Amino acid sequence: MSNFDTLANEWDNNPRRTKLAKKAVVEIKKNIKLNKNMNVLDYGTGTGLILLGLQLDVKFITGMDNSQGMLNVLQQKLDNAKITNVKLKNHDIDKEQLPENKYDLITINMALHHIEDINNFTKKAYKSLKKGGYISITDLVTEDGTFHSNNDGVKYFGFNIKKLATILEKNKLNIKYHYIYNEIEKLEINKKFPIFILIAKK
Ligand SMILES: C[S@@+](CC[C@H](N)C(=O)[O-])C[C@H]1O[C@@H](n2cnc3c(N)ncnc32)[C@H](O)[C@@H]1O
Repeated sequence: MSNFDTLANEWDNNPRRTKLAKKAVVEIKKNIKLNKNMNVLDYGTGTGLILLGLQLDVKFITGMDNSQGMLNVLQQKLDNAKITNVKLKNHDIDKEQLPENKYDLITINMALHHIEDINNFTKKAYKSLKKGGYISITDLVTEDGTFHSNNDGVKYFGFNIKKLATILEKNKLNIKYHYIYNEIEKLEINKKFPIFILIAKK
């Protein structure tokens, strides 16, 4: 059982989290013109806070995550709302391949810092995108290890955006934009954590 399985039922009860995801959805839509022909993958989808924000604007979204607990919570939401253009898959990017040449857009929100090998993720994402497809990464800028109260399963303390962009470029993705669009304030530790968006194109 992963840490996320344990957190799944309470995940959406944290307003800081839901607000963060809403802002990410706004930023993704600002940068990428969504349309009803698009086939989208939301990677590390969790309880679907990003997926559900995009679902109405595209043809089909697959949500992948390696926490069955998170996927169960999301499946319940999909069932309750009778949403039919979404499919969920238990998938571990550190161990499994992605389908090739399939997606017009891949989104990954606050999940990249939990993934073991960023180069490997990027390679797989590249193969999985159709030509002209986009990837949107929204995540923490390099932090000092205090963002999470428990760092189990945290593989990166955020990212140096330029270094991350270089990894994507090495894997043949063309960087379109990257900038900081948000900040999470943790009053309890008196710190602010900037959040970036990076958009690249195949
Ligand atoms: C911080 S949560 C973010 C969830 C969601 N994207 C959101 O914005 O609310 C990170 C998610 O990444 C998933 N994850 C972590 N490592 C993974 C891996 N190796 N393969 C697939 N999913 C992974 C976790 O299970 C978790 O649901």
